[in-house]
Amino acid sequence: MANPICISGILFLSIFSLYSPLIAAYNVVNFGARGDGRTDSTAAFLRAWMSACSSASPATVYVPRGNFLIRAVSFSGPCRSRIQFQIDGTLVAPDNYYVIGNSGFWILFYKVSRLTISGGTIDARGNGFWSCRKNGNNCPAGARSMMLMWCNDVLVSGLTSYNSQTIHIGIDNSSNMKLQNLKITAPSGSPNTDGIHVESSTGVTIVGSTIKTGDDCISIGPGTMNLWISNIGCGPGHGISIGSLGNSYHEAGVQNVTVTDSVFTNTENGVRIKSWAKPGGSYARSLLFKNLIMTSVAYPIIIDQKYCPDNSCPHQSSGVKVSQVIYRNIKGTSATQQAVKFDCSSSNPCSGIILQDIKLTYLNRFYKPTVAYCSNAIGRQSGAVFPKSCF
Ligand SMILES: *[C@@H]1O[C@H](CO)[C@@H](O)[C@H](O)[C@H]1NC(C)=O
Ligand SMILES: *[C@@H]1O[C@H](CO)[C@@H](O)[C@H](O)[C@H]1NC(C)=O
Repeated sequence: MANPICISGILFLSIFSLYSPLIAAYNVVNFGARGDGRTDSTAAFLRAWMSACSSASPATVYVPRGNFLIRAVSFSGPCRSRIQFQIDGTLVAPDNYYVIGNSGFWILFYKVSRLTISGGTIDARGNGFWSCRKNGNNCPAGARSMMLMWCNDVLVSGLTSYNSQTIHIGIDNSSNMKLQNLKITAPSGSPNTDGIHVESSTGVTIVGSTIKTGDDCISIGPGTMNLWISNIGCGPGHGISIGSLGNSYHEAGVQNVTVTDSVFTNTENGVRIKSWAKPGGSYARSLLFKNLIMTSVAYPIIIDQKYCPDNSCPHQSSGVKVSQVIYRNIKGTSATQQAVKFDCSSSNPCSGIILQDIKLTYLNRFYKPTVAYCSNAIGRQSGAVFPKSCF
């Protein structure tokens, strides 16, 4: 059953282990999983996880090539040692979207520290779920494909995610996490299929990834601090968004977010800050957006503090204070004339906004110049800034 690559891998590990602490490998196939795309392997994965998690020395859960059918599953910690989840195959969700659709998540890592997830593909097969929603039927709430909740010291490397029902990868109440070399793909018309959503978390780094979805490539929720995002290819999708913030009155703020060296192609937004037009005491501050290329982006630079779907908050203004926001070296084309838009709260004007070396031109056959719009925004510009700023 085991293929030669796998055998040599185990040999390597055991030779290596003569000189280092033993790394125990738990192959899910040895626990009853079958990579035939049909056999429910959930219980086998859980048994492999529990063995690895209780190992006194560093342990690897190994998923070989093949398509493994998995229902909603939570891999819970704390574990005794460092754990590696190495995936060479593909995890697929059941055909019937109801099976995972009401659990909120498909694959959950809960209270795990010192975890590496490497390689592999997860395919939630969200198509049926999206059609259900589009037809306005009575659908389940939908599942996020991979959730990391209350986790610390995590590396996710080389993972591919296709067609989540809702968010592809969710990070909640976690710290010290690096996501690198990810490929996230869903059709541009698929609803709410955000690539990565970070919330209530500190010290998350997302680098070198390609994200094509029907919603935000990366969305940043309340309580996010010290987030670093670089070398992202985003689009199609709705761009990289901080928000929506300020939906509830008492909400944690967002602080110290950097988005750098990234490319946005045919997205709705480039970098966006969005808050509800509702009272509250939250904030978004110390934000740096630099070295970004926009290609045919509808709203390359946008702060929208008037978010109020279905007119649910009439005559109110946002309590979210936006301050210390730097936009530096952002170039390319805007698909609308209003390439820069700061539509801030009348009760909490945006302050400390800096535009530096901006060049956004209008992608339009009449070659009109782009314009900037300001409402309740205080800031300054330096270097060459085009469109001319409106402070
Ligand atoms: C995460 O932490 C926040 C604030 O500490 C809390 O309000 C929220 O319920 C937590 N979320 C989860 C999923 O535990
Ligand atoms: C801001 O976040 C970065 C990681 O993106 C971190 O290295 C830095 O120390 C943070 N700055 C502060 C003042 O916390």
